[in-house]
Amino acid sequence: MTDVVVGLDLGTGGVRAIAVDLLQGQVIAKETRSYPLLIPQPGWTEQNPSDWVEASLDALFDVAQQLDGHRAIALGLSGQMHGMVPLDAEGKVIRPAILWNDQRTGKAVDAIEATIPPQELIQRTGNPAITGFQLPKLVWLRTEEPQAYARLWQILLPKDYLGYVLTGESVTEPSDASGVGCLNLATRQWDTDILNALNLNPALFPPVIESTAIAGRLKSEIATRVGLPAGLPVVAGGGDNAAAAIGLGISSSNLNRGSLSIGTSGVIFAPCQRPIPDPEGRVHLFCHVDGGYHQLGVTLGAGGSLRWYRDTFAPNVPYTDLMDMAERSLPGARGVLFLPHLSGERSPHLDPDTRGAWVNLSLAHTQPDIIRAVLEGVAFSLREALEVISAIAPVHQLLATGGGARSNIWLRILADILQTELIAPKAEEGAAYGAAILAMVGVGAYPNLEAAFKILPQDASVVQPQVNAVYEAGFKRYKLLYDALKAVR
Ligand code: XUL
Repeated sequence: MTDVVVGLDLGTGGVRAIAVDLLQGQVIAKETRSYPLLIPQPGWTEQNPSDWVEASLDALFDVAQQLDGHRAIALGLSGQMHGMVPLDAEGKVIRPAILWNDQRTGKAVDAIEATIPPQELIQRTGNPAITGFQLPKLVWLRTEEPQAYARLWQILLPKDYLGYVLTGESVTEPSDASGVGCLNLATRQWDTDILNALNLNPALFPPVIESTAIAGRLKSEIATRVGLPAGLPVVAGGGDNAAAAIGLGISSSNLNRGSLSIGTSGVIFAPCQRPIPDPEGRVHLFCHVDGGYHQLGVTLGAGGSLRWYRDTFAPNVPYTDLMDMAERSLPGARGVLFLPHLSGERSPHLDPDTRGAWVNLSLAHTQPDIIRAVLEGVAFSLREALEVISAIAPVHQLLATGGGARSNIWLRILADILQTELIAPKAEEGAAYGAAILAMVGVGAYPNLEAAFKILPQDASVVQPQVNAVYEAGFKRYKLLYDALKAVR
């Protein structure tokens, strides 16, 4: 009987549970389940935590059914960051969870920054007040739903709520907690000065334990339902970006390597050893799961921009055909520029109200130029974020993941525009895999993360950047767009 560790990632589209062989690192079983995204008003995004729980228990059950001959020795958690699950004194959910991409908290952000200047927030927590973070959601609840607020016992992050259901213990860990908006990055504990200034009770937030610490043990009634052993150690885990980084072997002991993910959004993850924020907070600074820190640059519309293009202008055309068309244009898209701000932007502008555009069109331009401009615009946007990141902690290689990284032309464009070596990993199991690795270390199967990294698959291929004067000139023009287009909003 060989040992496996289960990793679970509670995403926005759905949950993914996998079982990973402890010694060889292969994925023995995997299951996903989706759940609805609720949009009660434009700009609001919510989910029912009960949907997360049902989907997670079903996925765990199906994984457990496939384990014959293997014994599960631990479970690790990962999940979408920044969301708020409000609980009453009996541990019941008071209202639906408000998610990371919800934009309702503009006034709450202003109220927080009126009490604590952004510079101070950045120095203490790594970030200014940001609409998607959890703290502004709590302030919003206090003003807008005072009856719900009056019943609050605790607010939990999504994966920590799932951990609470599985074990009965309410805890969090630094990688996800640093996305709340009031974690002191130096102490890796809640910043009580900030909470006192905002007149918020620190007891509303759960204790912060290490990411590899055991959060609790699987309750027997849940164990019976999912077919995993009662008392199974459940390890705290990490926010999805930090856990995904661990699944790629990215830790603060090798500062050379970060990651680039092209999913709906585009994310650059760069590890660092000390919590040094960008003074203007233009990229995020969060705790990593290994005791270090990481910067995170987020372009909201990456793969999402291409998906929007396809849905709007080329329905049913396969992405591979769109990529072939882009090949028929030229680097620089024959002068067309695209600003990928279709859902506002995070890094480096932190502006939910900015909007997208193609500019410089002429009668001579064709569909290949338009598509190529989208691919290049996403890369330019990421380069803006990478420039801020590199000024603090340069990375020399990025492990490229996500659906967009499976396109050779997009990888080439990204390498040349970012002027950074891109590496395609051989296998990509995402944040659930990182959660499993954290759990392996959590139960002492490996002495530390570096030792566990030996089971990770090797790199597959490398794309070396080439200098292209057209892109350099294009980037200079691209950088002018954000300010220039402000006047026409
Ligand atoms: C990170 C962020 C997203 C969510 C999505 O700051 O908002 O990556 O974690 O799951």
